[in-house]
Amino acid sequence: MQLLVNIDHVATLRNARGEGYPDPTEAAIVCEQAGAAGIVFHLRSERRHIRDDDVYNLKRAIRGVLDFEMAASDEMIKICKEVNPHLSTLVPEGREELTTEGGLNMKKVYNDFENRVMPAFEGTDIEVSLFLDPNPEDIHLAHKLGVNAIELHTGTFANATNPADIKRELERLKEGAILIHELGMKVNAGHGLNLKNLPALIENVPHMEDISIGHALISKSIYWGLDRTVREYIKLMKSDSNMRLV
Ligand code: PXP
Repeated sequence: MQLLVNIDHVATLRNARGEGYPDPTEAAIVCEQAGAAGIVFHLRSERRHIRDDDVYNLKRAIRGVLDFEMAASDEMIKICKEVNPHLSTLVPEGREELTTEGGLNMKKVYNDFENRVMPAFEGTDIEVSLFLDPNPEDIHLAHKLGVNAIELHTGTFANATNPADIKRELERLKEGAILIHELGMKVNAGHGLNLKNLPALIENVPHMEDISIGHALISKSIYWGLDRTVREYIKLMKSDSNMRLV
C-alpha cells in the first residue's frame, strides 16, 4: 500500500488569484521528498485547476508514479498518450460537479470503452485504471475490458456518519477489493480519505495498493506544512493496526 498525493487543489489556490503560486509541481516535489510514492492530477475538460502546462511540468519533475486522472474524451486520451504517465485513472466528469461524484457507470460506458477507449491505449505502456463504486457488475465489466486496475470510490464510506452506514460501506469496499484481486486486477482506492477515516479503511479492506488522497491532505498542510502532512499520512499507513487512532 502506498500514498499517491493528488495536487489538484494546490492549483485551485493558485488559480484563485491568477498568480504563479503555489505551484503544483513544486508541491509535488515536496510530496515526493517526504516519501509519497507518486502524484495524481486531474486535468479537467474546463481546466478548473490543473492546466496543460502543469501536466508537462509534472511529467518532467516527478520520479515516482504519475497518475493522470481524466475523463475518457478523445482530447484527454491524446494528451495522456503524449505525456505517457505510468497510470491513467478514467473517471466520469460532470461540468457542474464540485468533485468527481461517483464511479463510472459501466453498463452505460461499456460499448464506448470497448470500441474507442481501450483500443486507444493499445500499444502504450500506460496502465489503465477505472474509478468505480464497489458494484460487482461494474467490476466484472471492467475486467472484461482488460483494464489493469480499479480505483474503488471511497467517497460514500468517507461521507457516512452513522456506524451502520460506515459498516455497510466498508463491507461493500471489502467485497469489491476481494473480487478485483481475484480477477487479477490491482486494487486502488480514493476519494474523501483523511487521517480520521483512513485507519478503518485499512483495517477492513484488503489488497489495496495505490491510495489517492487530495483535498484533506492539502488542507491539513495549511496548518502543518506539506512535508509533515505527507509524513503523517505515510506513518499512519505503515503503522501497526493497534497503533492507529480510529
Ligand atoms: N480519486 C479520484 C478518482 C478522484 O476523482 C479524486 C478527487 O479528485 C480523488 C481520488 C481524491 O479525492 P480527495 O480530494 O477527496 O482526497
